[in-house]
Amino acid sequence: MKNTESARQRIVILDYGSQYTHLIARRIREHHVYSEILPFGTTAESLRADMPKGIILSGGPNSVFADGAPSIDREIFELGVPVLGICYGMQLMAQTLGGKVVAGTVREYGKAELKADCASGMFAGLPEKFVVWMSHGDRVAELPAGFKPAASSENCPYAAACDESRRFYALQFHPEVAHTQFGEKIISNFVFAICGCRADWDMGTWIEDSVAKLRAEIGDEHVILGLSGGVDSSVVAVLLNKAIGKRLHCIFVDNGLLRHGEAAEVEAMFAGKLGLDLHVAHAAQRFYKALCGAEDPETKRKIIGREFVTVFAEEARKFQNCRFLAQGTIYPDVIESSSSVNGPSQTIKSHHNVGGLPPDLKFSLVEPLRDLFKDEVRAVGRILGMDESLLSRQPFPGPGLGVRVLGEVNAEKVRLLQEADLRVQQEVRKLPDYGKIWQAFAVLLPCRSVGVMGDQRTYEYTCAIRCVNSIDAMTADWTRLPYDTLATISNRIINEVRGINRVVYDISSKPPATIEWE
Ligand code: XMP
Repeated sequence: MKNTESARQRIVILDYGSQYTHLIARRIREHHVYSEILPFGTTAESLRADMPKGIILSGGPNSVFADGAPSIDREIFELGVPVLGICYGMQLMAQTLGGKVVAGTVREYGKAELKADCASGMFAGLPEKFVVWMSHGDRVAELPAGFKPAASSENCPYAAACDESRRFYALQFHPEVAHTQFGEKIISNFVFAICGCRADWDMGTWIEDSVAKLRAEIGDEHVILGLSGGVDSSVVAVLLNKAIGKRLHCIFVDNGLLRHGEAAEVEAMFAGKLGLDLHVAHAAQRFYKALCGAEDPETKRKIIGREFVTVFAEEARKFQNCRFLAQGTIYPDVIESSSSVNGPSQTIKSHHNVGGLPPDLKFSLVEPLRDLFKDEVRAVGRILGMDESLLSRQPFPGPGLGVRVLGEVNAEKVRLLQEADLRVQQEVRKLPDYGKIWQAFAVLLPCRSVGVMGDQRTYEYTCAIRCVNSIDAMTADWTRLPYDTLATISNRIINEVRGINRVVYDISSKPPATIEWE
């Protein structure tokens, strides 16, 4: 069967479970060539039906000596297409083709200097010496017949090898990671010079393919989507709208813990401007009631999560004709929750909290973004014509202001925090470096302090400003906001938000602090 996607030239990546598998796909996509990740058990027969231009065997956490180690259909080496084995892929290739792999006594992990043979097609145009990223235990001790060494490092005599006549290439290091110098060039040598691909694929083509796939998958059925107003679910909404139009039904839960004006903005954008079928569940009071008396952060998270599922399920039940539930799961969500070599498991993004839907609601999941990285999702959104303000939104925790009002949450405290946070947003947006800020927000502390306003003594809440720079939220440093910006934020909050009389700036980094206060 040929669909629009398979009519394209493609590089197939067989996934042996490396955390970098998707990076390989991404690097190839950056060269404007379509690449597809398939499970390692894929047969030569199934590949023949739509012959790829090249095949890459990814790395993986296993040893080829382990019981039940992931293997390869030998016939893949008889397809006549170039094959590149990376790390575990190299060892598997060597073992399958008659070479010898030995168990490593020391694991080689980190940077290593490579001496490369530039006559090999893989290293064409590269210097003789450069730095690569190694991460392996076992290593190839004898090359299969027909192979010759193509590079070495201090600890690894066969850091790369190839059989140019059969177009088989093997790398013990990872060309796909940023720490490998010229990794991009090695990948482009394989994709263009060796496999002969054309650079004719881009995110626009991804959208066309994805729309075609969604139409084929969904047929005449209806889909519901939990829209959070964040980047991922918003892009899914617009993509599905393009694919199936009015058969998409979006559910947005206003839990009363959103940022100032957010519920109205989501409604104006998705129901108004984009004309989507949007159902808003106005559930703020219900969440406040459920949160009454709860002070512990994890207890609050659980309450918010549980309430979300109940409200979402109530809405979803109104759509008995929907067979599918769409989610904005993206690739980093998938790796976070997967360690399986059999490919990432079906994961429900925890902050959407639809994981625990009651058993009467049986949906098949649709996750069109699950292979994409965040910046690729944004690129898709841009091509789909979505507003930049929506696409550049900062991450916002699922429990929302529920974990930014410290301690017990109530409607009044949420209102105070929304007002304070609005002023933070307005001021940081004016900064030329706004795009570099990972998150900026206000936190309402559960303590009051004495102040003076005019001739009056005040005894009001304290608000903390948190603003951090980060690449992936794993680590974060507090942003050196200009003093003038801090002064304006402080003045505005204290003068304009009745109920807050003190503003402090959080200067802790993660670790040991976390980004959120709860
Ligand atoms: P921390 O506070 O752990 O936050 O440094 C790291 C990132 O995760 C976000 N965050 C959450 N997101 N549900 C979410 O969906 C949560 O319960 C949650 N807690 C923290 C946080 O905003 C930051 O981007």
